[in-house]
Amino acid sequence: MSTSISVVGTGYLGVTHAACMAELGHEVIAYDVDASKIDALAEGVLPFFEPELEGLVRRHTATGRLRFTTSVAEVAERADVHFICVGTPQQPDGLGADTSHVESAVLALLGHLTRPSLIVGKSTVPVGTADRLNRLVERWAPPGVSVEVAWNPEFLREGHAVRDTLAPERVVLGVSSQEAGKVLLLVYDAFVVDDIPLLVTDLPTAELIKSAANAFLATKITFANVMAELCEASGADVVTLADALGFDSRIGRSFLGAGIGFGGGCLPKDVRALAATAGELGVDTLATFLREVDAANTHRREAVVEAAVSQCGGTVTGTRIACLGAAFKPGTDDVRDSPALDVAARLQLRGADAVVYDPEANQNAAHACPTLRFVETVDEAVDGAELVLLLTEWPELVALDPCALRPRVRSPRVLDGRNALNPERWRAAGWWYRAPGRPNI
Ligand code: UDX
Repeated sequence: MSTSISVVGTGYLGVTHAACMAELGHEVIAYDVDASKIDALAEGVLPFFEPELEGLVRRHTATGRLRFTTSVAEVAERADVHFICVGTPQQPDGLGADTSHVESAVLALLGHLTRPSLIVGKSTVPVGTADRLNRLVERWAPPGVSVEVAWNPEFLREGHAVRDTLAPERVVLGVSSQEAGKVLLLVYDAFVVDDIPLLVTDLPTAELIKSAANAFLATKITFANVMAELCEASGADVVTLADALGFDSRIGRSFLGAGIGFGGGCLPKDVRALAATAGELGVDTLATFLREVDAANTHRREAVVEAAVSQCGGTVTGTRIACLGAAFKPGTDDVRDSPALDVAARLQLRGADAVVYDPEANQNAAHACPTLRFVETVDEAVDGAELVLLLTEWPELVALDPCALRPRVRSPRVLDGRNALNPERWRAAGWWYRAPGRPNI
Protein backbone atom coordinates (compact mmCIF):
# COMPACT_ATOMS: atom_id res chain seq x y z
CA MET A 1 0.00 0.00 0.00
CA SER A 2 1.29 3.47 -0.85
CA THR A 3 2.03 5.88 2.01
CA SER A 4 2.88 9.60 1.84
CA ILE A 5 6.39 9.86 3.18
CA SER A 6 8.79 12.69 3.81
CA VAL A 7 12.53 12.39 4.25
CA VAL A 8 14.25 15.17 6.20
CA GLY A 9 17.94 15.56 5.33
CA THR A 10 19.39 14.67 1.92
CA GLY A 11 22.80 13.22 2.75
CA TYR A 12 23.77 9.63 1.89
CA LEU A 13 21.11 8.18 4.11
CA GLY A 14 18.31 10.59 3.19
CA VAL A 15 18.69 10.45 -0.59
CA THR A 16 19.02 6.66 -0.54
CA HIS A 17 16.01 6.23 1.72
CA ALA A 18 13.89 8.68 -0.30
CA ALA A 19 14.68 7.04 -3.66
CA CYS A 20 14.20 3.53 -2.27
CA MET A 21 10.86 4.39 -0.66
CA ALA A 22 9.72 5.73 -4.05
CA GLU A 23 10.94 2.46 -5.60
CA LEU A 24 8.74 0.58 -3.09
CA GLY A 25 5.77 2.54 -4.46
CA HIS A 26 5.39 5.35 -1.89
CA GLU A 27 4.88 9.05 -2.60
CA VAL A 28 8.01 10.72 -1.27
CA ILE A 29 9.00 14.31 -0.63
CA ALA A 30 12.60 14.92 0.42
CA TYR A 31 13.55 18.07 2.29
CA ASP A 32 16.81 19.86 2.98
CA VAL A 33 17.75 23.38 4.08
CA ASP A 34 20.47 23.50 1.38
CA ALA A 35 18.73 24.94 -1.70
CA SER A 36 21.60 24.23 -4.10
CA LYS A 37 21.62 20.58 -3.07
CA ILE A 38 17.84 20.33 -3.52
CA ASP A 39 18.04 21.97 -6.97
CA ALA A 40 20.76 19.54 -8.06
CA LEU A 41 18.83 16.53 -6.73
CA ALA A 42 15.68 17.66 -8.53
CA GLU A 43 17.79 17.56 -11.73
CA GLY A 44 18.94 14.04 -10.80
CA VAL A 45 22.48 15.10 -9.82
CA LEU A 46 23.93 13.60 -6.63
CA PRO A 47 26.40 15.53 -4.46
CA PHE A 48 28.33 12.28 -3.82
CA PHE A 49 29.26 9.04 -5.59
CA GLU A 50 27.03 6.06 -4.86
CA PRO A 51 26.51 3.25 -7.38
CA GLU A 52 22.92 2.80 -8.67
CA LEU A 53 21.51 5.74 -6.70
CA GLU A 54 21.56 8.43 -9.38
CA GLY A 55 19.60 6.20 -11.77
CA LEU A 56 16.99 5.53 -9.09
CA VAL A 57 16.62 9.24 -8.23
CA ARG A 58 16.17 10.10 -11.92
CA ARG A 59 13.68 7.30 -12.44
CA HIS A 60 11.44 8.46 -9.62
CA THR A 61 11.70 12.19 -10.23
CA ALA A 62 10.41 11.21 -13.69
CA THR A 63 7.57 9.02 -12.33
CA GLY A 64 6.66 11.92 -10.02
CA ARG A 65 6.84 9.68 -6.92
CA LEU A 66 9.96 11.52 -5.69
CA ARG A 67 10.03 15.29 -5.18
CA PHE A 68 12.49 17.62 -3.49
CA THR A 69 11.74 20.74 -1.52
CA THR A 70 13.20 23.36 0.82
CA SER A 71 9.79 24.06 2.38
CA VAL A 72 8.97 22.38 5.72
CA ALA A 73 5.39 23.55 5.33
CA GLU A 74 5.11 21.54 2.10
CA VAL A 75 6.59 18.49 3.82
CA ALA A 76 4.08 18.73 6.67
CA GLU A 77 1.22 19.24 4.24
CA ARG A 78 2.04 16.30 1.94
CA ALA A 79 3.28 13.50 4.23
CA ASP A 80 2.01 11.46 7.18
CA VAL A 81 5.23 9.62 7.97
CA HIS A 82 8.39 11.71 8.35
CA PHE A 83 11.78 9.99 8.29
CA ILE A 84 14.52 12.00 10.01
CA CYS A 85 17.80 11.32 8.16
CA VAL A 86 20.03 14.18 9.31
CA GLY A 87 23.62 13.71 10.49
CA THR A 88 24.69 12.98 14.07
CA PRO A 89 28.40 13.85 13.92
CA GLN A 90 30.87 13.54 16.77
CA GLN A 91 30.63 16.52 19.14
CA PRO A 92 33.41 19.02 18.47
CA ASP A 93 34.52 18.94 22.11
CA GLY A 94 33.81 15.34 23.14
CA LEU A 95 33.35 11.71 22.10
CA GLY A 96 29.53 11.74 22.15
CA ALA A 97 27.21 12.23 19.16
CA ASP A 98 25.82 15.69 18.44
CA THR A 99 22.05 15.20 18.07
CA SER A 100 21.21 18.88 17.65
CA HIS A 101 20.34 18.47 13.94
CA VAL A 102 17.80 15.76 14.85
CA GLU A 103 16.20 17.98 17.48
CA SER A 104 16.08 20.99 15.14
CA ALA A 105 14.51 18.89 12.37
CA VAL A 106 11.79 17.59 14.70
CA LEU A 107 11.06 21.05 16.11
CA ALA A 108 10.89 22.59 12.62
CA LEU A 109 8.43 19.91 11.54
CA LEU A 110 6.26 20.18 14.67
CA GLY A 111 5.59 23.83 13.95
CA HIS A 112 3.82 22.92 10.69
CA LEU A 113 1.97 19.65 11.42
CA THR A 114 -1.79 19.80 11.04
CA ARG A 115 -2.76 16.12 10.94
CA PRO A 116 -1.81 12.88 12.76
CA SER A 117 1.85 12.18 12.02
CA LEU A 118 4.55 9.66 12.78
CA ILE A 119 8.10 10.97 13.07
CA VAL A 120 10.58 8.16 12.44
CA GLY A 121 14.23 8.58 13.33
CA LYS A 122 16.74 6.78 11.12
CA SER A 123 19.93 8.56 12.21
CA THR A 124 22.27 6.75 14.63
CA VAL A 125 21.68 8.31 18.05
CA PRO A 126 22.56 7.70 21.69
CA VAL A 127 20.05 5.48 23.47
CA GLY A 128 17.37 7.66 25.09
CA THR A 129 17.18 10.18 22.22
CA ALA A 130 13.77 8.99 20.96
CA ASP A 131 12.27 9.22 24.47
CA ARG A 132 13.64 12.75 24.74
CA LEU A 133 12.12 13.63 21.35
CA ASN A 134 8.76 12.22 22.46
CA ARG A 135 8.89 14.69 25.38
CA LEU A 136 9.64 17.52 22.91
CA VAL A 137 6.66 16.38 20.86
CA GLU A 138 4.37 16.36 23.92
CA ARG A 139 5.42 19.92 24.63
CA TRP A 140 5.48 21.45 21.14
CA ALA A 141 3.05 19.52 18.91
CA PRO A 142 0.16 21.74 17.82
CA PRO A 143 -2.90 21.30 20.08
CA GLY A 144 -5.19 18.49 18.93
CA VAL A 145 -2.64 17.02 16.49
CA SER A 146 -1.46 13.55 17.48
CA VAL A 147 2.26 13.07 16.84
CA GLU A 148 4.49 10.20 17.90
CA VAL A 149 8.18 9.35 17.54
CA ALA A 150 9.42 5.92 16.37
CA TRP A 151 12.92 4.64 15.58
CA ASN A 152 13.89 2.68 12.48
CA PRO A 153 17.71 2.55 12.30
CA GLU A 154 19.46 2.14 8.96
CA PHE A 155 22.18 -0.41 8.31
CA LEU A 156 23.21 0.64 4.80
CA ARG A 157 26.82 0.53 3.74
CA GLU A 158 28.24 3.20 1.47
CA GLY A 159 28.87 1.70 -1.95
CA HIS A 160 25.96 -0.75 -1.43
CA ALA A 161 23.39 1.72 -0.16
CA VAL A 162 20.59 0.96 -2.65
CA ARG A 163 20.83 -2.81 -2.34
CA ASP A 164 21.10 -2.63 1.45
CA THR A 165 17.93 -0.52 1.59
CA LEU A 166 15.85 -2.47 -0.93
CA ALA A 167 16.95 -5.92 0.25
CA PRO A 168 17.93 -5.43 3.90
CA GLU A 169 19.03 -8.36 6.08
CA ARG A 170 16.62 -7.15 8.76
CA VAL A 171 14.38 -4.19 9.55
CA VAL A 172 14.17 -2.87 13.11
CA LEU A 173 11.09 -0.93 14.17
CA GLY A 174 11.27 0.76 17.55
CA VAL A 175 7.82 1.94 18.62
CA SER A 176 5.99 3.02 21.74
CA SER A 177 2.46 2.19 20.51
CA GLN A 178 0.76 -0.48 18.42
CA GLU A 179 -0.53 2.18 16.01
CA ALA A 180 3.02 3.32 15.21
CA GLY A 181 4.01 -0.31 14.58
CA LYS A 182 1.08 -0.75 12.19
CA VAL A 183 1.99 2.37 10.21
CA LEU A 184 5.60 1.23 9.81
CA LEU A 185 4.58 -2.30 8.84
CA LEU A 186 2.51 -0.72 6.04
CA VAL A 187 5.52 1.31 4.88
CA TYR A 188 7.58 -1.90 4.71
CA ASP A 189 4.84 -4.30 3.57
CA ALA A 190 6.96 -5.26 0.52
CA PHE A 191 9.55 -6.68 2.93
CA VAL A 192 6.92 -8.77 4.71
CA VAL A 193 6.12 -10.41 1.36
CA ASP A 194 9.86 -11.00 0.78
CA ASP A 195 10.25 -12.72 4.17
CA ILE A 196 12.80 -10.17 5.42
CA PRO A 197 12.97 -10.32 9.25
CA LEU A 198 11.08 -7.38 10.77
CA LEU A 199 11.75 -6.89 14.46
CA VAL A 200 9.27 -4.73 16.33
CA THR A 201 10.70 -3.54 19.63
CA ASP A 202 10.79 -0.61 22.04
CA LEU A 203 12.59 2.67 21.38
CA PRO A 204 15.77 2.17 23.45
CA THR A 205 16.36 -1.32 22.07
CA ALA A 206 15.97 -0.07 18.48
CA GLU A 207 18.46 2.73 19.12
CA LEU A 208 20.95 0.37 20.74
CA ILE A 209 20.70 -2.29 18.02
CA LYS A 210 22.28 0.10 15.55
CA SER A 211 25.04 1.28 17.88
CA ALA A 212 25.79 -2.30 18.90
CA ALA A 213 25.94 -3.51 15.28
CA ASN A 214 28.54 -0.91 14.34
CA ALA A 215 30.52 -1.40 17.57
CA PHE A 216 30.59 -5.16 16.94
CA LEU A 217 31.81 -4.73 13.34
CA ALA A 218 34.50 -2.31 14.55
CA THR A 219 35.55 -4.75 17.26
CA LYS A 220 35.70 -7.63 14.80
CA ILE A 221 38.01 -5.69 12.45
CA THR A 222 40.11 -4.62 15.42
CA PHE A 223 40.43 -8.20 16.61
CA ALA A 224 41.86 -9.12 13.21
CA ASN A 225 44.22 -6.15 13.41
CA VAL A 226 45.58 -6.94 16.86
CA MET A 227 45.97 -10.58 15.79
CA ALA A 228 47.94 -9.25 12.81
CA GLU A 229 50.34 -7.61 15.26
CA LEU A 230 50.72 -10.92 17.11
CA CYS A 231 51.27 -12.67 13.78
CA GLU A 232 54.06 -10.22 12.97
CA ALA A 233 55.64 -10.83 16.36
CA SER A 234 55.46 -14.62 15.96
CA GLY A 235 55.98 -15.16 12.21
CA ALA A 236 52.39 -16.34 11.63
CA ASP A 237 50.13 -15.32 8.73
CA VAL A 238 46.99 -13.30 9.57
CA VAL A 239 45.30 -13.94 6.22
CA THR A 240 45.45 -17.73 6.62
CA LEU A 241 44.41 -17.29 10.24
CA ALA A 242 41.37 -15.19 9.23
CA ASP A 243 40.46 -17.66 6.47
CA ALA A 244 40.53 -20.50 8.98
CA LEU A 245 38.50 -18.58 11.58
CA GLY A 246 36.05 -17.57 8.88
CA PHE A 247 35.13 -21.17 8.09
CA ASP A 248 33.66 -21.39 11.58
CA SER A 249 30.05 -20.41 10.91
CA ARG A 250 29.87 -18.85 14.38
CA ILE A 251 32.62 -16.42 13.37
CA GLY A 252 32.37 -15.84 9.59
CA ARG A 253 35.10 -14.40 7.34
CA SER A 254 33.70 -10.91 6.71
CA PHE A 255 35.14 -7.98 8.69
CA LEU A 256 38.28 -9.96 9.55
CA GLY A 257 40.33 -8.03 6.99
CA ALA A 258 43.49 -6.84 8.77
CA GLY A 259 45.30 -3.76 7.50
CA ILE A 260 45.17 -0.03 8.17
CA GLY A 261 41.96 -0.23 10.20
CA PHE A 262 38.41 1.04 9.89
CA GLY A 263 37.30 4.57 9.04
CA GLY A 264 34.41 6.42 7.43
CA GLY A 265 31.54 8.55 8.64
CA CYS A 266 30.01 5.83 10.85
CA LEU A 267 32.15 3.18 12.56
CA PRO A 268 34.70 5.49 14.27
CA LYS A 269 32.14 8.01 15.50
CA ASP A 270 29.63 5.34 16.53
CA VAL A 271 32.23 3.46 18.60
CA ARG A 272 33.14 6.72 20.36
CA ALA A 273 29.50 7.72 20.86
CA LEU A 274 28.62 4.34 22.38
CA ALA A 275 31.67 4.58 24.66
CA ALA A 276 30.48 8.04 25.76
CA THR A 277 26.93 6.80 26.41
CA ALA A 278 28.21 3.78 28.35
CA GLY A 279 30.37 6.11 30.46
CA GLU A 280 27.44 8.45 31.13
CA LEU A 281 25.25 5.53 32.20
CA GLY A 282 27.96 4.15 34.48
CA VAL A 283 28.71 1.07 32.36
CA ASP A 284 32.45 1.54 32.63
CA THR A 285 33.47 -1.92 31.36
CA LEU A 286 31.88 -1.21 27.98
CA ALA A 287 33.24 2.35 27.91
CA THR A 288 36.79 1.11 28.58
CA PHE A 289 36.43 -1.77 26.11
CA LEU A 290 35.27 0.52 23.27
CA ARG A 291 37.89 3.17 23.98
CA GLU A 292 40.48 0.39 23.63
CA VAL A 293 38.97 -0.62 20.25
CA ASP A 294 39.18 2.99 19.10
CA ALA A 295 42.79 3.39 20.28
CA ALA A 296 43.88 0.06 18.74
CA ASN A 297 42.28 1.12 15.46
CA THR A 298 44.05 4.49 15.36
CA HIS A 299 47.31 2.73 16.25
CA ARG A 300 47.04 0.72 13.00
CA ARG A 301 47.60 3.88 10.95
CA GLU A 302 50.86 4.66 12.72
CA ALA A 303 51.90 1.00 12.58
CA VAL A 304 51.55 0.99 8.78
CA VAL A 305 53.50 4.25 8.57
CA GLU A 306 56.26 2.60 10.64
CA ALA A 307 56.22 -0.40 8.30
CA ALA A 308 56.60 1.97 5.33
CA VAL A 309 59.52 3.75 7.00
CA SER A 310 61.21 0.47 7.77
CA GLN A 311 60.64 -0.79 4.22
CA CYS A 312 62.33 2.39 2.96
CA GLY A 313 65.40 1.69 5.10
CA GLY A 314 64.61 3.67 8.26
CA THR A 315 63.63 7.08 6.87
CA VAL A 316 61.18 8.44 4.32
CA THR A 317 62.52 11.98 4.16
CA GLY A 318 62.47 12.98 0.50
CA THR A 319 61.31 9.48 -0.50
CA ARG A 320 58.77 9.28 -3.29
CA ILE A 321 55.86 7.12 -2.11
CA ALA A 322 52.90 6.22 -4.33
CA CYS A 323 49.78 6.14 -2.15
CA LEU A 324 47.10 4.18 -3.99
CA GLY A 325 43.68 5.01 -2.56
CA ALA A 326 42.29 7.84 -0.44
CA ALA A 327 38.64 6.84 0.13
CA PHE A 328 37.90 5.15 3.46
CA LYS A 329 36.94 2.03 1.51
CA PRO A 330 36.33 1.12 -2.15
CA GLY A 331 33.08 2.03 -3.90
CA THR A 332 32.80 5.53 -2.44
CA ASP A 333 34.33 9.00 -2.77
CA ASP A 334 33.95 9.54 0.98
CA VAL A 335 37.14 10.46 2.84
CA ARG A 336 35.63 11.13 6.27
CA ASP A 337 38.01 9.70 8.88
CA SER A 338 39.70 7.79 6.08
CA PRO A 339 42.64 5.69 7.28
CA ALA A 340 44.03 5.79 3.72
CA LEU A 341 44.22 9.57 3.60
CA ASP A 342 45.49 9.71 7.18
CA VAL A 343 48.38 7.35 6.37
CA ALA A 344 49.33 9.46 3.32
CA ALA A 345 49.21 12.65 5.43
CA ARG A 346 51.29 11.04 8.21
CA LEU A 347 53.93 10.00 5.66
CA GLN A 348 54.05 13.52 4.30
CA LEU A 349 54.52 14.82 7.86
CA ARG A 350 57.51 12.47 8.14
CA GLY A 351 59.01 14.20 5.11
CA ALA A 352 57.96 11.78 2.37
CA ASP A 353 57.06 12.96 -1.12
CA ALA A 354 53.64 11.27 -0.98
CA VAL A 355 51.72 11.19 -4.27
CA VAL A 356 48.09 10.10 -4.00
CA TYR A 357 45.79 8.52 -6.57
CA ASP A 358 42.18 7.49 -5.98
CA PRO A 359 39.73 6.56 -8.76
CA GLU A 360 36.84 8.56 -7.22
CA ALA A 361 37.92 10.42 -4.10
CA ASN A 362 40.75 12.71 -5.34
CA GLN A 363 38.59 15.81 -5.21
CA ASN A 364 37.21 15.25 -1.70
CA ALA A 365 40.65 14.16 -0.50
CA ALA A 366 42.32 17.29 -1.94
CA HIS A 367 39.71 19.37 -0.16
CA ALA A 368 40.43 17.61 3.16
CA CYS A 369 44.24 17.52 2.76
CA PRO A 370 45.21 20.35 0.40
CA THR A 371 48.95 19.96 1.01
CA LEU A 372 49.08 16.43 -0.43
CA ARG A 373 49.81 15.93 -4.13
CA PHE A 374 47.05 14.18 -6.11
CA VAL A 375 47.40 12.69 -9.59
CA GLU A 376 44.89 11.43 -12.14
CA THR A 377 46.41 8.03 -13.01
CA VAL A 378 48.15 5.13 -11.32
CA ASP A 379 51.08 5.56 -13.70
CA GLU A 380 51.65 9.15 -12.58
CA ALA A 381 51.52 8.02 -8.96
CA VAL A 382 54.06 5.22 -9.31
CA ASP A 383 56.52 6.89 -11.72
CA GLY A 384 59.86 7.05 -9.90
CA ALA A 385 58.37 5.76 -6.62
CA GLU A 386 60.55 4.07 -4.05
CA LEU A 387 57.55 2.49 -2.36
CA VAL A 388 54.06 1.69 -3.62
CA LEU A 389 51.51 1.64 -0.82
CA LEU A 390 48.04 0.16 -1.34
CA LEU A 391 45.64 2.02 0.97
CA THR A 392 42.15 1.44 -0.49
CA GLU A 393 41.40 -1.88 -2.16
CA TRP A 394 39.59 -0.58 -5.27
CA PRO A 395 39.18 -3.49 -7.74
CA GLU A 396 41.21 -1.59 -10.37
CA LEU A 397 44.11 -1.25 -7.90
CA VAL A 398 43.92 -4.86 -6.73
CA ALA A 399 44.03 -5.95 -10.39
CA LEU A 400 47.17 -3.91 -11.23
CA ASP A 401 49.78 -5.81 -13.22
CA PRO A 402 53.02 -5.87 -11.16
CA CYS A 403 55.08 -6.69 -14.28
CA ALA A 404 53.80 -3.60 -16.11
CA LEU A 405 54.37 -1.34 -13.09
CA ARG A 406 57.88 -2.52 -12.29
CA PRO A 407 59.79 -0.56 -14.97
CA ARG A 408 58.08 2.67 -13.81
CA VAL A 409 59.27 2.62 -10.18
CA ARG A 410 62.70 3.41 -8.82
CA SER A 411 62.56 0.54 -6.28
CA PRO A 412 60.13 -2.37 -6.64
CA ARG A 413 58.81 -2.24 -3.07
CA VAL A 414 55.13 -2.64 -2.29
CA LEU A 415 53.35 -2.38 1.05
CA ASP A 416 49.87 -3.86 0.84
CA GLY A 417 48.04 -1.93 3.58
CA ARG A 418 44.80 -3.84 2.93
CA ASN A 419 46.06 -7.40 2.47
CA ALA A 420 44.33 -7.32 -0.89
CA LEU A 421 47.10 -8.03 -3.41
CA ASN A 422 48.38 -11.46 -4.39
CA PRO A 423 51.83 -11.73 -2.74
CA GLU A 424 53.05 -14.58 -4.99
CA ARG A 425 52.17 -12.62 -8.11
CA TRP A 426 53.99 -9.48 -6.93
CA ARG A 427 57.01 -11.40 -5.66
CA ALA A 428 57.22 -13.38 -8.91
CA ALA A 429 57.32 -10.04 -10.77
CA GLY A 430 60.38 -9.06 -8.72
CA TRP A 431 58.73 -6.90 -6.04
CA TRP A 432 59.70 -6.79 -2.38
CA TYR A 433 56.20 -7.41 -0.95
CA ARG A 434 55.17 -6.62 2.63
CA ALA A 435 51.71 -6.60 4.29
CA PRO A 436 50.46 -6.21 7.87
CA GLY A 437 50.38 -9.52 9.74
CA ARG A 438 52.07 -11.55 6.99
CA PRO A 439 55.46 -13.21 7.21
CA ASN A 440 58.38 -11.53 5.47
CA ILE A 441 59.95 -13.82 2.90
C1 UDX B 1 29.02 0.87 8.25
C2 UDX B 1 28.17 -0.37 8.53
O1 UDX B 1 28.73 -1.50 7.85
C3 UDX B 1 26.73 -0.13 8.10
O2 UDX B 1 25.92 -1.25 8.43
C4 UDX B 1 26.20 1.12 8.82
O3 UDX B 1 24.88 1.41 8.45
C5 UDX B 1 27.10 2.31 8.51
O4 UDX B 1 28.46 2.00 8.89
P1 UDX B 1 30.18 1.92 6.09
O5 UDX B 1 30.57 3.10 6.92
O6 UDX B 1 29.63 2.16 4.72
O7 UDX B 1 29.06 1.04 6.84
O8 UDX B 1 31.50 1.02 5.97
P2 UDX B 1 31.87 -0.52 6.17
O9 UDX B 1 31.68 -1.26 4.92
O10 UDX B 1 31.28 -1.06 7.40
O11 UDX B 1 33.46 -0.36 6.41
C6 UDX B 1 33.94 0.44 7.49
C7 UDX B 1 35.45 0.47 7.52
O12 UDX B 1 35.97 -0.78 7.92
C8 UDX B 1 36.14 0.81 6.18
O13 UDX B 1 37.19 1.72 6.42
C9 UDX B 1 36.68 -0.53 5.72
O14 UDX B 1 37.80 -0.41 4.90
C10 UDX B 1 37.04 -1.15 7.08
N1 UDX B 1 37.12 -2.63 7.04
C11 UDX B 1 36.03 -3.37 6.71
C12 UDX B 1 38.32 -3.23 7.40
O15 UDX B 1 39.32 -2.58 7.73
N2 UDX B 1 38.38 -4.61 7.40
C13 UDX B 1 37.30 -5.38 7.07
O16 UDX B 1 37.44 -6.61 7.10
C14 UDX B 1 36.09 -4.75 6.71
